[in-house]
Amino acid sequence: MPQTIVSASILNSDLADLKGTAARVDASGAEWLHFDVMDGEFVENITFGSSVLNAVRPHSRAFRDVHLMVAHPMRQIKLFAEAGADNITFHVESDCDPEAAIAEIHRLGLRAGISVKPGTPVSAIEPYIAAADMVLVMTVEPGYGGQGFIHSTLDKIRQIRAVDPDKYIEVDGGINPETSKLVREAGANVLVAGTFLFRAQDMAAAVKELRG
Ligand code: DX5
Ligand code: ZN
Repeated sequence: MPQTIVSASILNSDLADLKGTAARVDASGAEWLHFDVMDGEFVENITFGSSVLNAVRPHSRAFRDVHLMVAHPMRQIKLFAEAGADNITFHVESDCDPEAAIAEIHRLGLRAGISVKPGTPVSAIEPYIAAADMVLVMTVEPGYGGQGFIHSTLDKIRQIRAVDPDKYIEVDGGINPETSKLVREAGANVLVAGTFLFRAQDMAAAVKELRG
């Protein structure tokens, strides 16, 4: 089972002060910075594009973990690679060919993640797990931070961990100390958290709580 990594999602941070957000995350010990990219088509919400990642880049030491909740990921991959992404995760429910998306992300020298929404079975990504560096199991419906954890997703984490003991399995949505324990026991190792971390007085202590 790979090491536990905390990926701080900026979605529910103070978006009027991304420089301060990046500094808080660096100081907290969270290894990754999670960018929730939404296009208003794949999900109703719209967040930010590659120009925001580019703006944050010089102010953060964290690994840049981009989560594309977009209908047409192939249009965004190169833009986010040029803006400094270290990992790009796309959704199997989007309009791309997963093999082609993974190949393009690898061609650009980045880590590739493939994601499933809560209602999508693991069978939908089975053919692509080997080629991907990470699987993102959404533990809420994509679109907004601050939602409640969906417990039925735990089985999917267990299924993927059973397929590959070393694959990075990321979870995203409703992650706090209580749900972090559940997902880690199920086999997840990359914990995306926004609300719990950015509401904390002491983010470093909150990161430690998530690690268990
Ligand atoms: C949903 C988003 C959220 C966010 C983290 O589309 O991807 O899951 O990253 O949400 P909270 O605030 O629940 O940690
Ligand atoms: Zn996300």
